[in-house]
Amino acid sequence: MANLVLALDRHTEDRLIGDIVEHGHTVVARLATARELIASLEAGTPDVIVIGATRALLTSELLAACDARGVRVVALAESEPDHRYASSLGLHEVVDGQAPWSEIERVLVNGVTVPLRVGDLARQPSALDAGRVIAVWGPAGSPGRTTLAINIAAEIAAAGHTVALCDVDTYSGSVAPSLGMLDEAPGFAAACRLAGADSLTQAELERVAQRYNSPHGAFWVLTGIGRPARWPELSAERVGATLRAVRHWVDYVVLDTGFSLESDEEISSDLFSPRRNAATLAALREADQVVACGLADPVGMSRFLRAWGDLADLVTTERVTVVMNRVRSTAIGMNPNGQVQSTLRRFGNIGSVVLVPHDQHATDAAVLAGRTLRDAAPRSAVRARIRQLVHAELVPEPQPVRAARRSRAVAGLHARRATG
Ligand SMILES: Nc1ncnc2c1ncn2[C@@H]1O[C@H](COP(=O)(O)OP(=O)(O)O)[C@@H](O)[C@H]1O
Ligand SMILES: [Mg+2]
Repeated sequence: MANLVLALDRHTEDRLIGDIVEHGHTVVARLATARELIASLEAGTPDVIVIGATRALLTSELLAACDARGVRVVALAESEPDHRYASSLGLHEVVDGQAPWSEIERVLVNGVTVPLRVGDLARQPSALDAGRVIAVWGPAGSPGRTTLAINIAAEIAAAGHTVALCDVDTYSGSVAPSLGMLDEAPGFAAACRLAGADSLTQAELERVAQRYNSPHGAFWVLTGIGRPARWPELSAERVGATLRAVRHWVDYVVLDTGFSLESDEEISSDLFSPRRNAATLAALREADQVVACGLADPVGMSRFLRAWGDLADLVTTERVTVVMNRVRSTAIGMNPNGQVQSTLRRFGNIGSVVLVPHDQHATDAAVLAGRTLRDAAPRSAVRARIRQLVHAELVPEPQPVRAARRSRAVAGLHARRATG
């Protein structure tokens, strides 16, 4: 049940209004110009704008303002040129102008399947030119995915590499608040929209990303969906296309993913949950390496071991680094490191595990300041362990030829643009 703003011609509005009300939605405003629509976003945030796909109404400024506030847009196109116009702006939530409300409702609930047309960056030919994608995943119960993803990104950046940290968690994206950034800024969903429209360029990535600035190593951040209801924007196709573009933009892409690995093939009591997990599944498929983290207490370890089989079905375990987070004797007893290792070996046949200590003081200081552990608690044990993990498992060798790679890639991009 959504709060809607309508920007439609009188005839279309009259045709739809009965069904809108019947579906339990509230029309909070009816507006007739792009300027009024943008002003209405400043006054109060609707959930959805249903709009005619005309140049006068549907402008790129309006879409940017909607992206910034997490407002979804569904456009009604009366003609083929209107359809093309909406697509040229990167909007795929477009239905026929004569469509009944039920079709618009379907788009609101399910999102749309975006044809897989990837942008120039995603079409870079050589795998050698691509940066590495590292996905941080963990089961339900807040094992520390976001903490690990942020601090892995920070340590890789501090080692002199270019890094983009992307929040693809469709349940509780929290990279932005953890780093003191606006979570209603364009971010990953806007990149997905552009990738769907085949127009995700390096310049666009730099426009929709925010920068975490630090003298010890800055990095790019594509923040997550501010409101969980926006998950349909992160379809598998869009996420895949976006990640292929992002990996040609930077040396390392670090992904903070959701927890659920249920897929479409499984019968689920919640009809929509499989597609809600599409972003996590696509991220794991695209990843060169997966950091799988669990909580080092009895409940956390049993959750991890139950999910371990599902993860192993999805990615080969050679690509997985297992991390047990918040290791502490108060939750496990004497010799917590040894206990965690032997439990994982015995019940999951997992021989190698990175143990990250419980360090509330340091992680609280980082969250409070909106900074990385490297910046907020540089001498903490938890930061030291994550740094060690990065150097031992994720960035093993120095790679001095990155600058040359990037200029080659960008030159190739310009050459293709000029000829095509
Ligand atoms: N090693 C640690 N020691 C103490 N607290 C931690 C540690 N790692 C994470 N936390 C805290 O646990 C909570 C959940 O972490 P978070 O990274 O948001 O989990 P997730 O992304 O898996 O939901 C946060 O309050 C975070 O500060
Ligand atoms: Mg998280």
